[in-house]
Amino acid sequence: MSSLELRGVGVRYGRFTAVEGVDLTVPDGSVTGLVGGSGSGKSTVGKAVVGLAPLTAGRILVDGVGQPRRPGRTPVQLVFQNPYASLDPRLSIGAAVAEALPRTRLDPDNSGSSAAGRWTRAERAAEVARLLGLVGIDPARAAQLPAALSGGQRQRVALARALAARPGVLIADEVTSALDVSVQGAVLNLLRRLQRDLGFALLFISHDLAVVRYLCDQVAVLESGRLVECGPAAEVMARPAHETTRTLLSCIPALPARTVTEAP
Ligand SMILES: Nc1ncnc2c1ncn2[C@@H]1O[C@H](COP(=O)(O)OP(=O)(O)O)[C@@H](O)[C@H]1O
Ligand SMILES: [Mg+2]
Repeated sequence: MSSLELRGVGVRYGRFTAVEGVDLTVPDGSVTGLVGGSGSGKSTVGKAVVGLAPLTAGRILVDGVGQPRRPGRTPVQLVFQNPYASLDPRLSIGAAVAEALPRTRLDPDNSGSSAAGRWTRAERAAEVARLLGLVGIDPARAAQLPAALSGGQRQRVALARALAARPGVLIADEVTSALDVSVQGAVLNLLRRLQRDLGFALLFISHDLAVVRYLCDQVAVLESGRLVECGPAAEVMARPAHETTRTLLSCIPALPARTVTEAP
């Protein structure tokens, strides 16, 4: 689908430098974990990529080309930590997903056999149902308001909204942190399955190295807005080169190894 490349990325809020000199490539179809302690600049990196934080230095490239840095206009989608805040409480979940669809429907298989054009009402409803089904929400619930859903289900809807734009790159910022522990595993499994099936590049932001180990091909470690370590996940986990990485690793319960299990 797409690759994401950050070159010398810096973000300042006024005189405060939140992120500086970040070079990071998320290769096409792969998963990169961005880890670091609270306030290390993880969310700022994600927001800078989609134009929600001011890029004060460097460049962001998708498939090697620069991005129009207007939110909602990029092939990069961001899913936030808190599904309670990211969904409009007055909008049905079906309407919330429909709202995120591109204005014109895409040629589904790029074959040129069905030209891109305006959605008919039926096509739009079918696409919303497809997206809800993709994230494990019964499409029959499309008319329900977010209040009728659990936190995990809301995060699934937020994911469906992000996927509606058919992004080449997805940024998931602490997507399970606000959820009940009992549903975190199911949402992570869903994310992993979707990444494999749809093939988008995933920048997975987390403070939890146990989860990153489970999900990621590559790990990048942020401290005070700078990358201090980056490499293949297995290598970084086995032989962390930086003190920050060792500290984050020491937060993982040692034995038994924490595993993420498939929830019903
Ligand atoms: N809009 C903002 N204005 C000023 N400072 C901010 C803003 N957003 C984040 N920061 C600061 O930037 C630093 C990095 O924040 P953030 O990217 O949210 O870290 P993380 O996601 O790793 O916890 C923190 O010190 C935070 O207080
Ligand atoms: Mg954050």
